[in-house]
Amino acid sequence: MNEQQRKQLIAASCEIRKNAHAPYSKFHVGAAILTKSGKIFTGCNVENASYGLTICAERSAAVGAVAAGEKDWAAIAVATPGGHSPCGACRQVLVEFAPDLQVLLVDSDRPDSADGVIETDMQTLLPGRFIFK
Ligand code: THU
Repeated sequence: MNEQQRKQLIAASCEIRKNAHAPYSKFHVGAAILTKSGKIFTGCNVENASYGLTICAERSAAVGAVAAGEKDWAAIAVATPGGHSPCGACRQVLVEFAPDLQVLLVDSDRPDSADGVIETDMQTLLPGRFIFK
C-alpha cells in the first residue's frame, strides 16, 4: 500500500461510515478494504431490531469484495469514533482471506492527525486462528 492508497483507504472508511444504520447502538462504523489489485470495497454496520442479525462494517466490506471476485486483500481501514479494533468475529472472517492483512484503526474524529490512525495487522489481532483443512 503506497501513501496515496493509504489516504484513499482512510477517507473511504470515514465516508462510508456516514451510511451506517445503527439506530440501536448509535455506534457508526465504516470499513474499507484495499485489494492487492488496487480496488477499494467499503461497508458499514447494519443493525436490526432483532439485534443478533446485525452485520459489522468489516464483514459488510468483506462480502462485497468477495462477491466482486476480489479475494486478495492488502489492507483494511476501520473508522470509529476513538479508533476501535475489529470484533473477534470479524477478525476470523478477515484472516481467512488475508492472514497478512494490514489493519488501520481510524479515529473518525481526526483521521488526518498523526495519532488518529493506529496501524496493526491480523497476526497481532488474531494469533492462533481457527483453520479448517
Ligand atoms: N461493530 C462493527 O461494525 N464492527 C466491529 O468490529 C464491532 C462492532 C458494530 C456492530 C454494532 O452495530 C455496533 O458496532 C455496536 O456493537
